[in-house]
Amino acid sequence: MYTNILTAQNNGITTITINRPSKLNALNKETIQELHQAFKAADEDQATKVIIITGSGEKAFVAGADISEFADFSVEQGGALAANGQELLFDVVANLSTPVIAAVNGFALGGGLELAMAAHFRIASDNAKMGLPEVSLGVIPGYGGTQRLPQLIGKGRAMELVMTAGMIDAATAERYGLVNHVVTQEELIPLAEKLAGKIMRNSSVAIGAAIKAVNACYEDGVNGFTTEIEEFGKCFGTADFKEGTTAFLEKRKPAFPGK
Ligand code: COA
Repeated sequence: MYTNILTAQNNGITTITINRPSKLNALNKETIQELHQAFKAADEDQATKVIIITGSGEKAFVAGADISEFADFSVEQGGALAANGQELLFDVVANLSTPVIAAVNGFALGGGLELAMAAHFRIASDNAKMGLPEVSLGVIPGYGGTQRLPQLIGKGRAMELVMTAGMIDAATAERYGLVNHVVTQEELIPLAEKLAGKIMRNSSVAIGAAIKAVNACYEDGVNGFTTEIEEFGKCFGTADFKEGTTAFLEKRKPAFPGK
């Protein structure tokens, strides 16, 4: 069904694997389109409670946008490339109501780190290397990197990483708060699945509302506290809330209907 990605659904988890290892999983136009479709499909799939995004092979998560595709672009084409990519993929991932965990299994550079940063949180293998090397190509990050990197690691560290076009290792990324956990490559997907399992025990409706409220903290012109109040109130009308509170009072585990 897809040329550049693999998808697998198992036990409530949809794993999306970017599969262009000979190009270090670089994001070409077709891959971005396929990822858009796969994320949308997983979000609409009732059986999918958590999405894991990773890269195939042992070397790269994603080594960036595909440089060969935009090397001869004009000013207008460059602007359109960033706008379309953000709309089709990066903003879609960030705003999905299904939780997205990025399992960073190697290089996450440029658009690769931007994709990982669009996910709701990140874990990494100990060989991972992360950076936004765009200025070394005469361009800047265009898939949200200048916005999400300072949000995650602070302005000074983001400025340094962007200006030097450098790479940080997994341990540094963990220290910066860019990734939450670092494990060996063999342990990476099992850890992502373990975290997904913990998430799945909870109300998917409440989790979707929580994602919306947390994201509101970073949206211009939106009062996150107001969003939180609205989303909090809405929870009281859900079957999940009824089940969660009833189960607690009855001293049993909840069986959330996801509605
Ligand atoms: N776009 C297109 N192709 C890419 C790519 C990208 N972002 N990153 C890697 N590739 C391709 C290489 O061109 C090479 O293809 P080839 O075998 O047909 O020549 C293949 O992937 C393997 O990469 P290679 O550079 O040989 O691997 P390496 O181990 O020597 O170096 C990197 C790894 C990640 C350091 C290096 O590939 C790199 O710097 N990539 C670009 C990173 C970047 O600037 N990303 C931001 C883009 S905006």
